[in-house]
Amino acid sequence: MTQPVTITEFLAQHLQCEHKLALAPMLLDVFSACKRIATVIEGGALAGNMGNLESENIQGEMQKALDMIANDIFIEINQQSGYIAGMASEEMDDIIQVAEKFRQNGDYLLLFDPLDGSSNVNVNISVGTIFSILKSSSKHPALADFLQQGSAQICAGYALYGTSTMLVFTTGNGVNGFTLEPHSGEFYLTHPDMQIAADTQEFAINMSNYRFWQEPIQRYIDECLLGADGEREKDFNMRWVASMVAEVHRILVRGGVFMYPMDSKLPAKGGKLRLMYEANPMSFIVEQAGGAASTGIERILDMMPTGLHQRVPVLMGSANEIERIVAYHQA
Ligand code: AHG
Ligand code: MN
Ligand code: MN
Repeated sequence: MTQPVTITEFLAQHLQCEHKLALAPMLLDVFSACKRIATVIEGGALAGNMGNLESENIQGEMQKALDMIANDIFIEINQQSGYIAGMASEEMDDIIQVAEKFRQNGDYLLLFDPLDGSSNVNVNISVGTIFSILKSSSKHPALADFLQQGSAQICAGYALYGTSTMLVFTTGNGVNGFTLEPHSGEFYLTHPDMQIAADTQEFAINMSNYRFWQEPIQRYIDECLLGADGEREKDFNMRWVASMVAEVHRILVRGGVFMYPMDSKLPAKGGKLRLMYEANPMSFIVEQAGGAASTGIERILDMMPTGLHQRVPVLMGSANEIERIVAYHQA
């Protein structure tokens, strides 16, 4: 049997080929933050971390204790890496300044959703952490330095705290997945070169919003629901975990489409999911695995951001299905 590859060994080999070795120490910090968050989540109710706080984030969402615990862990571990000039989090209104003494090699910006799917926490269903890394044009970055197109991302990834804890990431040269061996605390390469099949028979969308969707999405879902009796001539299956990380992970493993489209409750907000730390990193991963990601109107990675917490419609997954849904938007 061949020796399993640890994430540290993988980074050394993989990043050397890409001439991106400088990313390795920063990524190892990101991974140890995810590992710490996994431990806190595992403690569940025993650790007394469940429940809501009194506070709301800038998006008007009730914060959970674990949202803020995960946020604080991520900031604490990553601000000292020495490679990060600034950070931004779903849970923080403004960009996060990194102390001067930790900015000497501060060439990068780290954007993150510390706990994705946090409505799942107190029902013991999978949650995750999403991160995106951009190059910083300044050692003292301002908001404008963060507002880069998704196609400029240097790295994107997520941790999935599911039946096992996994890390999946891309540096623009394919997508690889690692599983945490809980006793040694080591991540091992278990899902090399993840690929999304171009065709699928599975969709993920919050069906309770059906009457609020626009016509192209209603048309697509109507056709899926007609299954073998309709023009798609095959039956579809549906899943909805309410945690984007878990949905995207499922799509990387067995194909499918994930949608959080625009709906008539959302126009003032622009969509449900956040561009900078949800849609962009997940789109980078999905595209690197051979899938596609669009708002229905444009490729997500081409969007020019207008704000740190900007929301966008999201359609991503198997390439032929996304192409079909985009065509319905043009019809
Ligand atoms: P977050 O917990 O970071 O706010 O994100 C939740 C997002 C996403 O992960 C999920 O797909 C979606 O919100 C769930 O929305 P519904 O509550 O409408 O199902
Ligand atoms: Mn989220
Ligand atoms: Mn979140």
